[in-house]
Amino acid sequence: MKQRVAALIVAAGKGSRLSNLPDDLPKQYRRLGSGSVLSHTLNAFGRHAGIDDIVCVIAEGDRLLYDRSLAEASAETQAKCHEPATGGATRQASVFNGLSALSESGVTHVLIHDAARPFIAERTISDILDRLRSGSAAVLTAILVVDTIKSIADGRLKTIDRSKLWAAQTPQAFALETALKLHQQAQSEGRLDFTDDIGLAEWQEIDIDIAEGSADNFKITTQPDLLKAESLAARMTHPVSPSPHPLAALGDVRTGQGYDVHAFEDGDAVILGGVSIPHSRKLKGHSDADVVLHAITDAILGAIADGDIGAHFPPSDPKWKGAASDQFLVDALRRVGELGGRVAHVDVTIICEAPKIGPHRDALRSSIAQICKLPIGRVSVKATTSEKLGFTGRKEGIACASVVTVRLPFDDTEEYPQ
Ligand code: CTP
Ligand code: MG
Repeated sequence: MKQRVAALIVAAGKGSRLSNLPDDLPKQYRRLGSGSVLSHTLNAFGRHAGIDDIVCVIAEGDRLLYDRSLAEASAETQAKCHEPATGGATRQASVFNGLSALSESGVTHVLIHDAARPFIAERTISDILDRLRSGSAAVLTAILVVDTIKSIADGRLKTIDRSKLWAAQTPQAFALETALKLHQQAQSEGRLDFTDDIGLAEWQEIDIDIAEGSADNFKITTQPDLLKAESLAARMTHPVSPSPHPLAALGDVRTGQGYDVHAFEDGDAVILGGVSIPHSRKLKGHSDADVVLHAITDAILGAIADGDIGAHFPPSDPKWKGAASDQFLVDALRRVGELGGRVAHVDVTIICEAPKIGPHRDALRSSIAQICKLPIGRVSVKATTSEKLGFTGRKEGIACASVVTVRLPFDDTEEYPQ
């Protein structure tokens, strides 16, 4: 029988170890570069030719957040996604609901994956599919433990032989029938304490194969995990097509300036230059309100005399609600590329009383340099207060000014009025 393989993405958790604030989004809906964590996870399966179907399990009340993530995913991912199933009180219950939703679908195999692991590699999925194809009933993704692990017994420390220790990850894959049977059996026997699915296969002594995972396939669980994920996502930002021209050949040197302001509202972090900086407020805006990337985008558009950010990405368009602002900047860079030019230098001044920018200066420079594909020496970030004067002085918001140098090839056909 031909295999038909589904990815079952569990996304019904609350992410309480990341944040317990009622207004904070669950981690699977937090922003990561060009989309939500979930949209990245969905795309990892959507783009894999061996995955036929995708079903998400989401918490009751999260439908709008799910729809927004799906809208951010690629068209090929959207085409594979079924109606989402509703989550349960535990991960195990959520998986069971997802499996039940798949039971009449014609799917033969299922890869169960945490939404909070957006960096699952294509080769891991391929490796799992190979094992299922050659008859495995259960496959665990895992990596060998690299740290030296100690245990305490009777008050004494003991080193454990780490060559036998694996750190479990997801996807955990099964023949659908096997997964359903295991979960039904666990339900009927009141075993509701499994924190992963392979645990059920161990319990029933089913043979388990191991596919090698990767360190990048970590589960976003705490705040440092989210920061690590943000920097990984920034490194993967859509590549800007390199200009065919070396800088020296681009004699038409242009200067553009951009300026933007966003007001504060209640929150716990501001996003500046693509970097999330913990703060007692957040910036209010239709997109992610990254005032720095907006100012740079406008400066670039200014240098090529191509309107402004609002003209290309109208705030009235719901598509840009909560959008990560690097995509606005990438679009401006694409416009420069289409003219055969390159951005040569970016300078930014951030005006606010708080948060302090100095400690984050190099993180901002490196994030902006990554997005613009520039050496870090061509990106400058400065900050100033306004001496407690005006709206920035009253801590009502953050302003940012940017000056950008763009180099274009000379256009000999240009006409100047006489
Ligand atoms: N999950 C789920 N249903 C639940 C609990 C968890 O679908 N009732 C999902 C989460 O959304 C996540 C995955 O299972 O993608 C792994 O769980 P975990 O990392 O524990 O996520 P949370 O439960 O959301 O986080 P926390 O335990 O910190 O609250
Ligand atoms: Mg949990």
